Amino acid sequence: MTDSTFSMPAPHPKERRLIFENISKPGYDTSLETYLRHGGYESLKKALGMKPGEIVDAVKAANLRGRGGAGFPCGMKWSFIKYDDGKPHYLVVNGDESEPGTFKDRYILHHDPHQLIEGVVISAFATNCHLSYIYIRCEFPHAAKIVWKAIQEARAAGFVGKNILGSGFDLDIYVHQGAAAYICGEETGLLESLEGKRAYPRIKPPYFPAVLGLYMQPTIVNNVETLCHVKHILRLGSEEYAKMGTPGDGGTRTLCVSGDVARPGFYELPVGAVTLGELIFDLCGGLRPGRKLKAVIPGGSSAKVLRAGEKFKIKAKGPDGAMTEKEIDMLDVVMDAASLAAVGTMVGSGGVIVMDDTRNMVQVLNNLNQFYAHESCGQCTPCREGSLWMSKITTRILDGGGVEKDPATLKNVADNIAGRTICAFGEACSWPTQSFLTKFPEEFSAASAKLLN
Ligand SMILES: Cc1cc2nc3c(=O)[nH]c(=O)nc-3n(C[C@H](O)[C@H](O)[C@H](O)COP(=O)(O)O)c2cc1C
Repeated sequence: MTDSTFSMPAPHPKERRLIFENISKPGYDTSLETYLRHGGYESLKKALGMKPGEIVDAVKAANLRGRGGAGFPCGMKWSFIKYDDGKPHYLVVNGDESEPGTFKDRYILHHDPHQLIEGVVISAFATNCHLSYIYIRCEFPHAAKIVWKAIQEARAAGFVGKNILGSGFDLDIYVHQGAAAYICGEETGLLESLEGKRAYPRIKPPYFPAVLGLYMQPTIVNNVETLCHVKHILRLGSEEYAKMGTPGDGGTRTLCVSGDVARPGFYELPVGAVTLGELIFDLCGGLRPGRKLKAVIPGGSSAKVLRAGEKFKIKAKGPDGAMTEKEIDMLDVVMDAASLAAVGTMVGSGGVIVMDDTRNMVQVLNNLNQFYAHESCGQCTPCREGSLWMSKITTRILDGGGVEKDPATLKNVADNIAGRTICAFGEACSWPTQSFLTKFPEEFSAASAKLLN
């Protein structure tokens, strides 16, 4: 991986690249000079001529939702911070990107650091933050170097530091290298880690970052991709940005596709522009020759799995405008937050993992269970013990020691983790087990029963 050039395939006609537009251009590199030649920091100049509240309103009107996993409306999050409360405010960028199946932020950090820095300065100006930390996953040391270098260039050119572009606004930005654990991506665990402590998530309430965040001061935590979108909202205008997406979920979203497809990679698409079937078969070129689709995890490893051929009843507007119920196939599910939630799963961090008919679902679940057991921070007993038990059971089944009641035990353990922990890691590690057992019961009972005989 270099910080100079990178070539992305030409966009599919359904794609609309905002975040990846410049990165896709031949010869585009990470220097400030290149960024400026491609319209860089123009949105910042515009922002500095606006009132901070107008920027928050623009982000709200654009319907930008967080791209880190939870999909929280960004402008609403910012408005939880009282602009003039006399306290120091912090803007923390979540670049921990550890969710299996998700790999978009790394590319932004490696190939377009100034796009992120511009988003950070605009967002800090809007929320009265004068200090920002970019928390970068420990395993991305090269990204940390690239972003540091870009911050220094931006500072020398007056885009960061004191009196930015003569506006009177001051902002310092630091890179902080993460502590090498998945839990460091959970926003309050991240703040603990940034304070130099073990990344144990904080109890919410009372520790909502916007109220009691970094050093117990009001703090905004946003994902890398989320903050990059801010510059495009100012460039295009909220209305045009919002129009690209669906009501309440504006702009574009990057979907990272991995697994058994012909063309894995990331695809930046207007929110809701494609169904799961179009994504897999049109954009990604379908499966490998002779293979059939078996399952898809649509939003990073924590999202509940969808089974090929599965049908759902959803509410949809009929030709007369009235709401009716209709049945759809899993391939017809639209790839946006609301549509995926309506079929019991989520778009999460946009990591789409595709599995064909060569996959053994016990093996896949065991792989995920081992990850979660390794990554549980250990603070909450149900998660610390339960994630390990689930992993031990699926490993035992694969090793030939399965017993008939294993599926029931697995379900019982998962059901007793979700909803009983300080942070959403509890749900993240239970949902795969719960959904794999529900969607592929025959594989689990066969594995357990066969091995019993
Ligand atoms: C276990 C766990 C891991 C997470 N990891 C990440 C991560 O790596 N990157 C990220 O942006 N958000 C991650 N999140 C979500 C963050 O807690 C938070 O919602 C997000 O950074 C907010 O930014 P956004 O509103 O821009 O999406 C994680 C959440 C949980 C529960």
